[in-house]
Amino acid sequence: MTEERTATGSGLTDNLQQGRWDAATYNTHFSFVWEFATDLLSVLAPQYGERVLDIGCGTGQLTAAIAEAGSTVTGIDNDEAMVSRARQNFPGVDFAVMDARALTYANEFDAVFSNASLHWMRPPTPVVVGISRALKPGGRLVAEMGGQGNIRSIVASIRRCVAAAGYGDPGSRSPWYFPDIPSYTTLLKRHGLNTAMATLFARPTPLNGGPDGLALWLDMFAGAFFERVPPHAKPTIVNAIVEELQPTLYHDGQWVADYVRLRIIATKPP
Ligand code: BEZ
Repeated sequence: MTEERTATGSGLTDNLQQGRWDAATYNTHFSFVWEFATDLLSVLAPQYGERVLDIGCGTGQLTAAIAEAGSTVTGIDNDEAMVSRARQNFPGVDFAVMDARALTYANEFDAVFSNASLHWMRPPTPVVVGISRALKPGGRLVAEMGGQGNIRSIVASIRRCVAAAGYGDPGSRSPWYFPDIPSYTTLLKRHGLNTAMATLFARPTPLNGGPDGLALWLDMFAGAFFERVPPHAKPTIVNAIVEELQPTLYHDGQWVADYVRLRIIATKPP
């Protein structure tokens, strides 16, 4: 498999190391991010005339689906390239570049929606404070994010292989926050949101790209762990991660990531 793969760094931009996302690659290779969220949209059940805020909208597919339901939706993302691609994809939909840790909306939205994004936004408290303030009384939060145990084997392997190559344990560089149910619902409660439903469940997620799927995923999302690794050393480390995870996560030409989702519905009291 090593020979078949494209080693990371040879073709793709190392997005996070450069502090930005490769929106074009995300748009074409990571469609599973929004394709898996169809049922989350039915939990949101956006209504005609409702105002909805979509946090971490990426390239805009779910924001556009919410708009199609007749809601007035704003999609926000902190990455300019993502928002620019979202605007290109869906010219009639409202998108803005915004840091969800510094929301300034007050009592404006019937619903706040977020898919596969909140785990990137650290620290989580200002995000929750902003969501709570942005909702109208009686409004709802419908969100799904990586939860406790998410990509446990991938993170462990990255840490092991980077350390084994002599660059130290990059664990403290993790850009992610994968909470358990009690910590997140307590945080919500502390900031005025009552949890109506919280569930943590495994969602093994097939990655696009065949034998290259894991390397593509690492290149798109895991750049922070490689900050101390010189570019020439990265392909060998990625190969080691791929070799190490192959017996557990690669089956019949398909990588399947060990995703765990935390799904939340919470409401702001009327
Ligand atoms: C996730 O959706 O769980 C995820 C995606 C990219 C990096 C880390 C986690």
